[in-house]
Amino acid sequence: MKWIASAAFGMEGMTGRDLKHLGMQGVRVMDVGGAEFEGGFEDAFRASLWLRTCDRILLVMARFEARTYEELFQGVKGVAWEELLPRDAGFPIRAKCVKSQLMSPSDVQKIAKRAMVERLKSAYGDDWFSETGAVFQVDVSIRDDVVTVALDASGEPLSKRGYRTWNGEAPLRETLAAALVLQSGWHPWQTLYDPCCGTGTILIEAAFIALNRAPGLTRGFAMEKWPGVPHASFEAIRAEARKKFEEGCKRPLSVSGSDIDPEAIELARRHVKQAGLAGRIGLSVKDMRDVMPSDVPASDKPGVFIANPPYGERLDNMRAAHAVAKQLGALQGRFTGWKLCAFSADMGFEKAYGRRATRRRRYYNGRIECEYRIFE
Ligand SMILES: C[S@@+](CC[C@H](N)C(=O)[O-])C[C@H]1O[C@@H](n2cnc3c(N)ncnc32)[C@H](O)[C@@H]1O
Repeated sequence: MKWIASAAFGMEGMTGRDLKHLGMQGVRVMDVGGAEFEGGFEDAFRASLWLRTCDRILLVMARFEARTYEELFQGVKGVAWEELLPRDAGFPIRAKCVKSQLMSPSDVQKIAKRAMVERLKSAYGDDWFSETGAVFQVDVSIRDDVVTVALDASGEPLSKRGYRTWNGEAPLRETLAAALVLQSGWHPWQTLYDPCCGTGTILIEAAFIALNRAPGLTRGFAMEKWPGVPHASFEAIRAEARKKFEEGCKRPLSVSGSDIDPEAIELARRHVKQAGLAGRIGLSVKDMRDVMPSDVPASDKPGVFIANPPYGERLDNMRAAHAVAKQLGALQGRFTGWKLCAFSADMGFEKAYGRRATRRRRYYNGRIECEYRIFE
């Protein structure tokens, strides 16, 4: 079977690398949208459990060219849906169209639905489908006139790990936080500190990486409800991941952070607890201007700051964002040899920070274009 590990702009390469690390076959990083791989249900389950920067795992059902609705209809009808979908399956469809002849997602959705109904009618000999059983979310995406029809094996996006149930002000998506940690060059034996940690997402994702904790360990995936999937193998893969985390928990960890807002720190504490990391991540209420070397665990090696400071789109917020960038520049100055990595949409960040970044990378936080700047 062919699968897509979908990933946001800028994270496709990382997702492909992680797939190779997991030992997946036929890994191909796509120009946009993520990376493809080949394998059975067990492989897809393992990827769902372990990929840190992937949004969803999708099972590719068909790929064909279509420039007319008739071609789309025939292509979707040609899929042997009855092999996977039981008689009572729910099959909602979401559609996306980019640079193609067929550019109306709602029409694509309607035609694809009609084609699936036609197929299932002749397969099951029924005229009407209750759609009261397991839900099979169908994903129809058209790009450059090539249609990819896929089934969503994840359900809730994989960024939802399950530990974050209270959202603070502008929290970072978990997949993006993991990407920032992976891109920072931080080694788990180094100290990591987030001086404006908000609800703690970066700290928790870093701890997951350091302690070998599968990000999806405590959540379920849509594919587990599909008929005919190997449940016993899934349980064995999950048990193996649980064991790896138990082993990982024995490792030392030097991850901590602070925030000026006591409410954010309260939320961070709850998230850390829900992530099964109580007592492993240091948290305190502090203005970043007051963070001193004596506040971080002593180590003979310099550490890494990873920060997602506030960035405003309005002018007064913009001024505040520049002030915070300046404070971050001063913070790095107080810590000899430390690296500072900052994720922000503030395009005047480097000027306010007082230095040019050593490296830069572009990401989107939702629809906002952001830059990840690394100051060695
Ligand atoms: C974009 S949010 C960070 C969100 C965080 N990454 C998360 O996932 O929840 C920016 C944070 O910077 C904090 N902040 C603003 N000024 C600060 C300062 N001077 N010192 C410390 N924290 C500050 C805010 O309270 C806010 O929680």
